[in-house]
Amino acid sequence: MKKTLIDFENFLKSHDTSIFESFHPYFQDAFWEMVVNGGKRFRPSLLFSIVLANDKKKIKDSFCIALALEVLHTYSLIHDDLPAMDNSPLRRGHTTLHIKYDECGAILAGDALNTYAFYLISNSNFSDKIKVEIIKSLGFGALKMVLGQACDCFFENKKLDKSKIDFIHLNKTAALIASSLEIGGIIALLDKNEIKKLKIFGTKLGLYFQIKDDVLDSTSVEEVLGKPINNDISKNSYVNLLGLQKAKDAKDRLKDELLLELDTMQDNIQKNLKELLKSH
Ligand code: IPE
Ligand code: IPE
Ligand code: MG
Ligand code: MG
Ligand code: MG
Repeated sequence: MKKTLIDFENFLKSHDTSIFESFHPYFQDAFWEMVVNGGKRFRPSLLFSIVLANDKKKIKDSFCIALALEVLHTYSLIHDDLPAMDNSPLRRGHTTLHIKYDECGAILAGDALNTYAFYLISNSNFSDKIKVEIIKSLGFGALKMVLGQACDCFFENKKLDKSKIDFIHLNKTAALIASSLEIGGIIALLDKNEIKKLKIFGTKLGLYFQIKDDVLDSTSVEEVLGKPINNDISKNSYVNLLGLQKAKDAKDRLKDELLLELDTMQDNIQKNLKELLKSH
């Protein structure tokens, strides 16, 4: 994807967060800093891949929708790192908010970002009909994410079978990834069947993405990931279920299947998503 066309980082840095100006000593900073702290921007990139493939003129108005996806995802990360969940001190190469500030501030920054996502959509330049469709898709993805997170945390230290681990991965991670593609399709005014196809592809892509994340937990290093490694000891991860090699094989198999499925999609979508998938 051409960087000149999609300067999302610049948009992010210049985004007006004055809605959270107050006499609180740090809430405005806590609200925004994990969003700008980095990350792969995978969900915005998925959305842009679809919009760019179909209607370049809509890219500008799509920025705030891509931001909505990213802030909702960031909220999920802030809460995921809390002591009650994965208890992690590092995210995106920075100290997590509950350690840098306090737990209350981190919980509320997450809450604020969750709501802010929908506020951004409501303020976007799209028609009311499109806005409602976007809200419905993001709302669905976010609810599934929470369900997946609930199962992920409740079943720590309790061994689950593969179908239940797939259920967790499909909910906690794949649903929001599928919504990112679906929302791209909604903005690009694709027909219902094409949008459905994108959502099904996105669900499988999300499963691949989470298995890769599981593998990286035991193969990467903190400096590269920007988050602690070996953090999944008590989790129902693919690596704990299958062992490292079989988890890697499952991940590679899914990637091959995804690349093949892309061959059946519209040329421009195919090109953009292949490019994205190859770098992830
Ligand atoms: C991390 O998501 C949590 C998962 C769903 C695997 P990302 O790997 O997209 O995290 P960032 O956005 O790059 O920080
Ligand atoms: C979290 O999965 C998925 C979310 C919904 C945030 P993980 O707990 O594996 O994500 P990381 O490894 O902490 O990024
Ligand atoms: Mg987690
Ligand atoms: Mg985690
Ligand atoms: Mg992980």
